[in-house]
Amino acid sequence: MAGDEKYDIGYYGTDYMTDEDVGRLLKITEQAEKFEVMMMEFDCAMAKVRTKLEILNKEMALKNRRNPFEYIKYRLKSPRSIYGKLKVKGVPFTVENIENTINDVAGIRVICSFIDDIYGIRDSFDVQDDVEILQEKDYIASPKENGYRSLHLIVRVPIFLSNEKKYMNVEVQFRTIAMDFWASVEHKMKYKKEISNAEIIVEELRYSADLINQLDRRMLQIRERIERSDGPEADRI
Ligand code: GTP
Ligand code: MG
Repeated sequence: MAGDEKYDIGYYGTDYMTDEDVGRLLKITEQAEKFEVMMMEFDCAMAKVRTKLEILNKEMALKNRRNPFEYIKYRLKSPRSIYGKLKVKGVPFTVENIENTINDVAGIRVICSFIDDIYGIRDSFDVQDDVEILQEKDYIASPKENGYRSLHLIVRVPIFLSNEKKYMNVEVQFRTIAMDFWASVEHKMKYKKEISNAEIIVEELRYSADLINQLDRRMLQIRERIERSDGPEADRI
């Protein structure tokens, strides 16, 4: 059919592929239904992990009299973005390859108030027998070269469908509000490619990330002080 050359994966970058284009590509390659099922399964896995996080949030809120989470964001990766990622990896666009090579089709971002909350939730996750932490990247203990900080987990959870139990991967990123502020701003600036003084800007961003880290640690110290002066110990001072 005329015009079908458009779908030649070898020629088109993601900037030119829309979600509709990817949808048409899936139909041509007879994978549209499989893709829909896969996305539904990732959606279910994401809902399951979100519920687990919300339960921990409620429990910790009751125990500590404060919410460890500020908020949770979540998303399913867009078809266009899935297509682009496989292309960058040099892997053919098939549903099997998506499931086997892309860990962040389902992604959750948990924004915490304090750094210790992040590790608290991570540890509670670790002991749950239906969550397996497949991969952990601790960019808080070891920040990226540019100053990026967050804790990234790839977790595997079972989902129970009408006649099948299936394991799915979900990416969970944990950050403080301050780290999220830095990451959002830095992410936006990545799109501005042609900048002069690029080195100075890289240096400034790294410096700002360090300031933000100091701020996070200070906020934690303030909270600990308040908690100490709250307890029975305080009466004796
Ligand atoms: P991806 O292929 O992009 O998923 O990278 P990866 O497999 O090496 O995973 P990594 O855990 O390092 O990063 C995954 C995600 O973390 C990205 O998709 C971003 O959401 C976020 N991230 C990682 N590095 C940075 C960074 O330098 N700046 C910002 N703003 N976000 C980042
Ligand atoms: Mg990603």
